[in-house]
Amino acid sequence: MSANESPAGRQPTATYDSAFMKACRREPVPHTPVWFMRQAGRSLPEYRKVREGIPMLESCMRPELVTEITLQPVRRHNVDAAIYFSDIVVPLKAIGIDLDIKPGVGPVVEQPVRTRADLARLRDLTPEDVSYVTEAIGLLTAELGATPLIGFAGAPFTLASYLVEGGPSRTYENAKAMMYGDPELWADLLDRLAEITSAFLKVQIEAGASAVQLFDSWAGALAPADYRRSVLPASAKVFRAVEGYGVPRIHFGVGTGELLGLMGEAGADVVGVDWRVPLDEAVRRVGPGKALQGNLDPTVLFAGTEAVEAKAREVLDAAAGLEGHVFNLGHGVMPSTDPDALTRLVEYVHTQSGR
Ligand code: CP3
Repeated sequence: MSANESPAGRQPTATYDSAFMKACRREPVPHTPVWFMRQAGRSLPEYRKVREGIPMLESCMRPELVTEITLQPVRRHNVDAAIYFSDIVVPLKAIGIDLDIKPGVGPVVEQPVRTRADLARLRDLTPEDVSYVTEAIGLLTAELGATPLIGFAGAPFTLASYLVEGGPSRTYENAKAMMYGDPELWADLLDRLAEITSAFLKVQIEAGASAVQLFDSWAGALAPADYRRSVLPASAKVFRAVEGYGVPRIHFGVGTGELLGLMGEAGADVVGVDWRVPLDEAVRRVGPGKALQGNLDPTVLFAGTEAVEAKAREVLDAAAGLEGHVFNLGHGVMPSTDPDALTRLVEYVHTQSGR
């Protein structure tokens, strides 16, 4: 271990000691750290400019472009963490699944995964499949200084929902039909996705990511008993796979009020909460020993500075008794959000919480 390396490994001491990392570890912080899901993206004019004419998935494979887009919100908003610019379907594309991200629609899979024979298409992911990720994270950590970089992946259920449906869905009828009708095939599919997701997170951590977030955005579609039986084992496997690195692991979903206890059980260090459950109630549901991340309603940002600050104050008040709090929105930044509202919100959270 060299002098400027922390006990947690590859990152500089200043990164390890940053407010974001401390909050994730439930240590005292100089101010509440804040970052935004989907901060790197469409609400920024500089993002739209550099993406012009370049399809989404292609832009995820260009290290210089990924670096620039990841840094844009850090420069502009003074957020406490960067999130790696990519998408949850990138590792699936990397192992040869024929899919695309259609503007205004989302991920679309050419041949949905519906049978046991289809499982064979989900081969293991190797670091060579995503060498552009390793390269981009190398470029990013050189630029980021003390600002931590969050790596991420889609959780097995949310990835399965796209693979089985063939695209975005509101009801998940094909995915749930497999889950209820052929539980063995479903379990094998989720286990395969847990392997791929674990390998993808390991690549990001080994390249220098300071923390990782598992996005189970659509888990809120499930009843607790079904989540426990059919989804939790695969997500828990992912968290176990990266436990040894000692980097904070964040677990996020939308509409998960009834699942927060189970999501805590799955093994993350930090549980993300959407805006439907106040943080003082969420902490009771999640149980002890976890930090929380959240949870301002992203639509509040359309309401003007006074309303934004009043609602942000409510979030901070509800978080006052927490051991660790990372301020975030309850879901991603909406594309039509005024970027200046985000910058003002970061400033507000920092000054109100001590900076
Ligand atoms: O948070 C960040 O800023 C990092 C980048 C990031 C993207 N997608 C970039 C993106 C992250 C973390 C994601 C994760 C993701 N992708 C999730 C989980 C998070 C969540 O919001 O719940 C999900 C469900 C997806 C799948 C996906 N990809 C959707 C639903 C869409 C939107 C489709 C649309 O155009 O409305 C995408 C595309 C996508 N991913 C864009 C960006 C910036 C927009 C594409 C573009 O700019 O052309």
